[in-house]
Amino acid sequence: MDGKLCIVTGATDGIGRVTARALAERGAEVVLVGRNDAKGTEVCKAIHRSSRNDKVRFEQADLSSQAEIRALAERLGTEGRAIDVLVNNVGAMFTRRRESADGIEMTFALNHLGYFLLTGLLLEKLKASPAARIVNVASQAHRSGRIDLEDPQGTRRYRGWTAYAQSKLANVLFTYRLAGLLEGTAVTANCLHPGFVASRFGQNNGWLFSTVLKGAMRLSAIDVEAGARTSVHVATSAEVEGVSGRYFDKSREATSSLASRDEETASHLWALSEELTGFRY
Ligand SMILES: NC(=O)c1ccc[n+]([C@@H]2O[C@H](COP(=O)([O-])OP(=O)(O)OC[C@H]3O[C@@H](n4cnc5c(N)ncnc54)[C@H](OP(=O)(O)O)[C@@H]3O)[C@@H](O)[C@H]2O)c1
Repeated sequence: MDGKLCIVTGATDGIGRVTARALAERGAEVVLVGRNDAKGTEVCKAIHRSSRNDKVRFEQADLSSQAEIRALAERLGTEGRAIDVLVNNVGAMFTRRRESADGIEMTFALNHLGYFLLTGLLLEKLKASPAARIVNVASQAHRSGRIDLEDPQGTRRYRGWTAYAQSKLANVLFTYRLAGLLEGTAVTANCLHPGFVASRFGQNNGWLFSTVLKGAMRLSAIDVEAGARTSVHVATSAEVEGVSGRYFDKSREATSSLASRDEETASHLWALSEELTGFRY
């Protein structure tokens, strides 16, 4: 990965942090994106020390805010460098309905629109690479998801899991459509399930939910090192060169749900995402 520029979002903790470190260990220049400046700086320092790679830096952005995503893309875009790998990893679940700075339901804003907008804004930089990869961290949770085109932001009835599963299905639908759009270019787009991973995922919620989830993670989740493996595989492996529009699980191609391959839903979701972000691909 020497000489390659990689961007990893949600890189201050969990799967993103290990993914960023693994890319640095392989010699890439890595930009970690997160919302917490102090934490990001500390994580970069730790990665410098363990990887002996000093081409690792932090960019602060709240990825649920479209203004912050635009400012981030502007900063990354003015550097004149092509981007070789974009790992859209940031994600969270909210048991109570919240809205982003743009007044959009938080799960949809962060987990889906964040991927959609940042990728779109960086697309020219990705196309400038001789072989770029977009890696979208989705989830097995997409299998229980449904895109509610009537009420995608859960204004009438909100359930944390339903909103999360919808956002992860949106990640897969977005990936497949994006891969189609990028056909004939040197940019690939794939998505993946990292496994059930013992990270800080879910800890932003109330005590009861956090405790139950932590307990479940202790019993059956894999650690974050194993949880980052599929992301790193899809981002770096020679086996995945030129492969696009696929869903990976345990570092292998897998079949995603039937709903994730529904072209009509994908079209509606794409149009809605353009409308809500004001960004046209
Ligand atoms: N854990 C699992 O079992 C599992 C399973 C399937 C899929 N996934 C997916 O894997 C991805 C990573 O999850 P994880 O398990 O590593 O979760 P995590 O440990 O909670 O890490 C999430 C990362 O995202 C950052 N983040 C959260 N909100 C943000 C915002 N508004 N702006 C910028 N950064 C923000 C966090 O920053 P802070 O450090 O500031 O909190 C942290 O760096 C997600 O897309 C998730 O849906 C996870």
